[in-house]
Amino acid sequence: MARPNVRSSLDLIPGYHSAQVDVEVRLNTNESPEPPPSGFVDALKESLDSLQWNRYPDREARALRDRIAQVESPLVGGGITAANICVANGSNEILQSLCLAYGGPGRSVLTFEPTYALHQHIAQVCGTDVKQVERDSEFQLDLNQAIAAIVEHRPSITFLCSPNNPTGMVESSSTVRAVLDAVESVDGLLVVDEAYGQFAAWSALSLIEEERSIVVTRTYSKTWSAAALRLGYLVAPTWVIEQLDKVLLPYHLDAVTQAAGLLALEYQSEMEQRVAELVGERTRVSAALADLHVQQWPSEANFILFRPLSPVAAVDTAALTDTATLTDTAALTDRAALTDRAAAGNSGDLVWQGLVDRSVLVRNCSSWPRLSGCLRVTLGTTAENTKFLDALGEVLT
Ligand SMILES: Cc1ncc(COP(=O)(O)O)c(C=O)c1O
Repeated sequence: MARPNVRSSLDLIPGYHSAQVDVEVRLNTNESPEPPPSGFVDALKESLDSLQWNRYPDREARALRDRIAQVESPLVGGGITAANICVANGSNEILQSLCLAYGGPGRSVLTFEPTYALHQHIAQVCGTDVKQVERDSEFQLDLNQAIAAIVEHRPSITFLCSPNNPTGMVESSSTVRAVLDAVESVDGLLVVDEAYGQFAAWSALSLIEEERSIVVTRTYSKTWSAAALRLGYLVAPTWVIEQLDKVLLPYHLDAVTQAAGLLALEYQSEMEQRVAELVGERTRVSAALADLHVQQWPSEANFILFRPLSPVAAVDTAALTDTATLTDTAALTDRAALTDRAAAGNSGDLVWQGLVDRSVLVRNCSSWPRLSGCLRVTLGTTAENTKFLDALGEVLT
């Protein structure tokens, strides 16, 4: 029996995978190194006792959206309410909903590369054409090029990731304003992905206004220590939220997630304290990297992108090929390609393996376009970061 074919536009889209290797120190997926504050889980268990399990959850997630609006209001120019907030299963579902509503066949999105791979991936899955502009050699946005591409392609959605994953670099207020003006001139929507927004000094939330075509996505997965929860949200003009209601499935956000999301916001000062600690660790790790022979990019996120420049201590190339099946991009699942790159002196692969040999896992970006030899380390606890720095010092001779 012939198997049914998926739609042809899906044939060329690789799945999105992130390697998990069994190591002591996991610094590869930009999660919080700490569990939620003590008290959170007990309070959640208690709130589950009064949950009406036989009933569908609040379809509008009203209490949660009210509370998120209160928490984010100070950062937004004008006052916002629940009508400016959409909640979903991770900010990825928010991005997907935006693409379902504003993208689709016959439309395009614009991304500035290198950036978060899921912007492109989700847009394609939703049948949207993807246009890309390369950032300059320092991974900064070339504003003239960006504006020219917006005017030429007239994308329905322009994605800006700030701080950008994987570079960690933040867009300035003047850059975002200039991009927004260009986006509005072609009747498009500017989506600023602030998954790491709380780690940065400036937020595009301050630009949200009812009559402007800008929205900001945020997540509980990083600062709120709740990647397991799968909860993200959008701050936007009310007319965007109204349109998203058409594409979200009924009761898409379950009652437990709503309750947990509400409770987490009771721990705002603890969250801010953790962010401050990670920002302190970012300064310390960045200074230590500066003493090693690596190139690094200025990060305002909870991770640092770096490129080792020194020769590498010998690593076990047999192990290198063995772990190829575990590595984290479609390209890296090809064992032969990995071995070839290592043989050709791509020290990113070798350093990655050297760190795994020392039970430290970072993200291997060295096969990603424009990022040859690069690795991305998530900031962990002080002890984890020290273990990473010690291991890296050993690997780089
Ligand atoms: C830039 C960016 N946006 C969105 C996400 C997705 O986050 P969530 O866990 O909320 O789906 C990530 C996750 O790593 C990310 O790096």
